[in-house]
Amino acid sequence: MFSKKHKVDISLPQHIAIIMDGNGRWAKKRKLPRSAGHVAGAKNFKTIARYCNKIGLKYLTVYAFSTENWKRPQEEVNGIMNLLRDYLKDAENFKDENIRVRFIGNIEPLADDIKELIHKNEEMSKDATGLNLNIAINYGGRDEITNAVKNIVKSGIREADIDESVISQNLYTKDMPDPDFIIRPSGEYRLSNYLIWQSAYAEFWFSDVLWPDFTPKHLDKAIEEYNKRNRRFGGV
Ligand code: FPP
Repeated sequence: MFSKKHKVDISLPQHIAIIMDGNGRWAKKRKLPRSAGHVAGAKNFKTIARYCNKIGLKYLTVYAFSTENWKRPQEEVNGIMNLLRDYLKDAENFKDENIRVRFIGNIEPLADDIKELIHKNEEMSKDATGLNLNIAINYGGRDEITNAVKNIVKSGIREADIDESVISQNLYTKDMPDPDFIIRPSGEYRLSNYLIWQSAYAEFWFSDVLWPDFTPKHLDKAIEEYNKRNRRFGGV
């Protein structure tokens, strides 16, 4: 069960997806450069991922860099890429955490050394049986669906054989359960091109807290709230 004080009657969603928003504002409030907000955000990402693994969550997907984030100043983009690089290099040190790491998104335009590190990390952790951690990098839901359509057309499948599962199987998240619960801190109430196909029946949780300030306690609270939702999937 997820934390001692909650014991019996709280059940975990199978898949939580988080939009790690508010790093820039967190930094601004402290009169720090935006890059400092991303540093704090990356640190918190590790804390929350470890916590999710500890409580027995099966899938966590985090939005680290979107297809639209290239529009940010070059310096900020480089800063985020460097944080990703550091995280990937450091991964050897937490091999024994039993977390399986995968990347979703189009990694093609990333620097060669980052791509290599990504492959190495995916390979190194592929037999882990704990948390499945997906990091969305250069990810966009529309880009993902466009890419799926191209693959489907290329495969030569007959129109009559195309159904929802064919589309799902051509997304980056193939073979993974859809997110049940999407969390967006920082006071914004939108999906920002995140998992737009997969979130069809997801529950949402929003909060004003900025991502670097989002603690395991906030996550506990969100999961508690999730447990009160009545999911009907279009039924009654
Ligand atoms: C959104 O906050 C955050 C991002 C676009 C980047 C998120 C990246 C990290 C948390 C670091 C990733 C690192 C690893 C290791 C996965 P914002 O900058 O839009 O904040 P604002 O809305 O307050 O300006």
